[in-house]
Parts: sequence; structure tokens; C-alpha cells
Amino acid sequence: MRILFVEKAFSANTIIMEVFSTITALQAALAEQKAAGKQVGLVPTMGALHAGHLSLVQHCVAENDVTVVSVFVNPTQFNDKNDLLHYPRTLDKDVALLTKAGCTYVFAPSEEEMYPEPDTRQFDFSPLDNVMEGQFRPGHFNGVAQIVSKLFMAVIPDRAYFGEKDFQQVAIIRRMTQQLQLPVILVPCPIVRESDGLALSSRNARLTTKQRNNAPIIAQTLFESRKFVSDWSVADVQKWVVETLNAVDDMRVEYFDIVDGDTLQTIHDWNECDFVVGCIAVFCGDVRLIDNLRYL
Ligand code: PAJ
Repeated sequence: MRILFVEKAFSANTIIMEVFSTITALQAALAEQKAAGKQVGLVPTMGALHAGHLSLVQHCVAENDVTVVSVFVNPTQFNDKNDLLHYPRTLDKDVALLTKAGCTYVFAPSEEEMYPEPDTRQFDFSPLDNVMEGQFRPGHFNGVAQIVSKLFMAVIPDRAYFGEKDFQQVAIIRRMTQQLQLPVILVPCPIVRESDGLALSSRNARLTTKQRNNAPIIAQTLFESRKFVSDWSVADVQKWVVETLNAVDDMRVEYFDIVDGDTLQTIHDWNECDFVVGCIAVFCGDVRLIDNLRYL
């Protein structure tokens, strides 16, 4: 599909964005660009795009000649089949947003295209994948690694962009890229938040009005807890965050771990390392939200 978008408001420039559904067609377009010496950036997404995704696209457009955005709801990373069933699919809207954002190619494949046969690969990222999301969503990161490795091998981008909102995902993909020796530079991008602090997520749309009003307490509590680092132990800060959030109506902390940002292992003393991150998963009713904040 070829989308022609004329940006009348700003100039007479014609911006052309193409949407591909097969690897072969995408690769043919990319081969021409690469032969002409163009740098290619990739932004993997599952669609239902919001300003968090679009910030990755902005970084990519600024740093590359060609920006590829993949839109694919990857079934192998959903440990909860109900979650997969209800995942929002809004390709037309996503394509319109990506056209405006300056994307060059959208890659929106079918499930058969990405998985012509079941992917039986089992990755081992231990100890990175035994904790936090890895512990509470078994198989999730194996599925992420399956699809991101397929996308990396299909596109072979110079750079690939990932949000720090999924802090553990960035660490896993970095490890996968090393293990498979793929020549891709990973570019982590900062978390985009609402003005009240809530990290943008496609899941926020599923919150009731009351839950949406309460949800910013997650980020606000994390930011507040940073003030205690010089006086309190790691265990006391951890306990305070969990107790503060569990006291909120309809909210339940699944985990809150204060970890070494490189190894993702829980720390016990602030002096253990100089890159310390607090990672949290919270249920607001039945909506599961994640967030994280750097302490040191
Ligand atoms: P998805 O949840 O669609 O997110 C796509 C990218 O957008 C991820 O790198 C994610 O970290 C980033 N992102 C989401 N919300 C953000 C926010 N508020 N601020 C900054 N970045 C944000 O993550 C996935 O898809 C999938 O696991 C994927 C990597 C595409 C593999 O299927």
C-alpha cells in the first residue's frame, strides 16, 4: 500500500510513506536505500500508538535517513491469552500518525508472515529474565526475543529504538543482540509521561475514571521515594513504596524491586553499585501498569 501525504500547511513537500506486509517487499525497498548509503533506523511496536511510541519515532527520524516502524501484535509474548485477545488494533490510525511523524516505511505483517512455522527457539538470558516481568510473566521475554530477533534480521537496521518504560525489555534485547551478534546499535529513549506523572501506556485507556485519577500516585510515589535515599535503607524505601500504593483503593503492587540497573538483581545497600533503578508493576483493578525510576 502506498500512502501519499501532502503537507499543505507547511510546504509543498510531498511526503511518501509506504506500508508493507511482507518481509520480501520491505527488504526490496530497504536494499535500494542501503545501496544509496542511507542509514536505517527501526522502531518495533505493537501499534495503538501514543506519544510514547511517537517519541521513539522522533528520535529515529532525527538520527537516520530511513525510519521503519513495525506494527505487529506479537502472540508469542502474551502469557495471558485474554490480554492478547483484547489488545487494541488500530492500524489505520497508526498509519496516519506515522505519516505525520515522518516515518518512511511501516511494516505491518500478518501472523503467518512472521511465524510461517512455530518458533521453537528458547533463549536463556539468566539472570536478567528470572526477575520482575520475567518472574511474573513466564515466557514473555522469550516471545519478545523471538519477534525482535526476526525484525532485526529482516531489517538489519543501523539503529533500533526502545523505550525505557520497559526497562527490563531493553536489557533483554541488549543481551539478545550480543548473543546473536547482530550489528544493531540499541538506542534507549526516556519515558514519556502525562503531566500528572503517569507513564503513557496503551493500557491506560482501560482504566475507569476513578482508577485513572488514582494511577498517577504510582509515579508520584516513586519520585517522592527518591528523597529518602540518603537517610533510609533500601529495604525501608522498598517497604514504604509498596505500603503507600497498597493503601490506595483498588490498587495492588505485584512487585517493586530496587535493582542494579545493569544486572537487574535486587540490591541491599545503596553503595552496591552506582546505577540503581526501582521497577514496579501495579494492578489498578485488573489493569496491570509498569513504571520505573532511576535512584542513582
Ligand atoms: P509496545 O508496548 O507497543 O511498545 C513499543 C515501544 O514503545 C517499546 O520500546 C516501549 O518501551 C515504548 N514505549 C511505550 N510506552 C512508552 C512511554 N510512555 N515512553 C517511552 N517509550 C514508551 O514493547 C513492545 O511493544 C513489544 O514488546 C515489542 C518490543 C514491539 C516486541 O513485540
